[in-house]
Amino acid sequence: MAREINVGIVGTRFMGRAHSHAFIDVAHFFDLPLVPVRRAACGRDVAQLEAFAQQFGWQTTETSWERLVARDDIELVDICTSNASHMPIAVAAARAGKHILCEKPIAMNAEEARRMLDAAREAGVSHMVAFNYRRVPALVLARELIEQGKLGRIVHFDAVYYQDWLVDPSFPMVWRHDIREAGSGAHGDMHAHLVDLARFLVGEIAAVSGVQEVFIRERPRADGQGMGTVTADDATYFLARFEGGAIGSFLATRLATGRKNYLRLEIFGSEGSLVFNLERLNELEFYSRRDPGPEQGFRTILATDSAHPYVKAWWPAGHIIGWEHTFVHEVRDLLVAIAHREPVHADFYDGLRCQQVLDAVCVSASEGRWVDVPAGD
Ligand SMILES: NC(=O)c1ccc[n+]([C@@H]2O[C@H](COP(=O)([O-])OP(=O)(O)OC[C@H]3O[C@@H](n4cnc5c(N)ncnc54)[C@H](O)[C@@H]3O)[C@@H](O)[C@H]2O)c1
Repeated sequence: MAREINVGIVGTRFMGRAHSHAFIDVAHFFDLPLVPVRRAACGRDVAQLEAFAQQFGWQTTETSWERLVARDDIELVDICTSNASHMPIAVAAARAGKHILCEKPIAMNAEEARRMLDAAREAGVSHMVAFNYRRVPALVLARELIEQGKLGRIVHFDAVYYQDWLVDPSFPMVWRHDIREAGSGAHGDMHAHLVDLARFLVGEIAAVSGVQEVFIRERPRADGQGMGTVTADDATYFLARFEGGAIGSFLATRLATGRKNYLRLEIFGSEGSLVFNLERLNELEFYSRRDPGPEQGFRTILATDSAHPYVKAWWPAGHIIGWEHTFVHEVRDLLVAIAHREPVHADFYDGLRCQQVLDAVCVSASEGRWVDVPAGD
């Protein structure tokens, strides 16, 4: 029988729910060397915490992450909190010898990310950043096609991430509007995903030139006490040069009226092209110059065959999967890595490299110049 691993989760709202779902489902669909036990949940609002624990089957609760991390019965700490707390929780967890799954962006800045990486390496624990879009079967297929040379030499990586939940000026202040709690706005939230996918699919980014804007500078405070000042960007755009020679464009905004969670990538190479849209995540568009002339054209691959990554565990071909499955895949890969003492990606090094790109864009936007991204280790 597979061994069990006790999980402690910190953060009980959006990502707390998504990760809980993954920990519930994963052992039912994948053969695992380690089966997760939902041992403890940590949150600050006692009533909400208790309701969350009951709804998702967490056995015990804690109202302080320090206590959760110190518990002898916790082996894996899952950080689903707002960004300012990622670093202190992760460093404490590593020092206590716990494996760590941390939501993205890894931290508030690259300096914090470096501390997290150093602490995890020193402790010899497994560490993963929850870049769940690496676990979309169609995007894993995209990477396989690129590795097989189907795109030839890649010249363009163009990515947009559009949401519209901040178009309404009466939408109240939340932690995501405050750089002291979030580090940045649309940039750290949405560009973190795009930069990670760029690194996953094309390679390292060498230099960036960015622009950032806060369009709605005041919003009603959530406590009803007047207006609060928005310090985190509503939108950030940037251009990039990749180490491999490609150039890229990245747009992230929460004011793209009508767009809900529209993450679209277009990758152009000398031999072919790929297009992906998260709102249709089972599909990958592929164009190959090697196809016979009259039949050339973009084709849509429905990435739901048992031959496609992760899909065999789910349903017959064409019985599509959804956004929540990406978290199940993520947790599956982490558990396998912990059991076999193998590295798993995206790890804290990937989180740091992503953060270095994000930080360089902020410097570029404030100083109005191109900024080099530090070289990797
Ligand atoms: N992978 C993805 O697709 C994705 C999507 C959304 C959010 N995220 C990331 O997940 C993280 C959480 O975002 P969310 O949308 O779930 O936020 P949220 O506001 O819905 O939930 C945040 C939770 O963290 C808790 N929290 C904050 N500080 C805490 C502390 N010191 N101790 C205990 N609990 C604390 C809050 O009480 C709340 O339960 C962020 O880093 C965010 O960027 C990732």
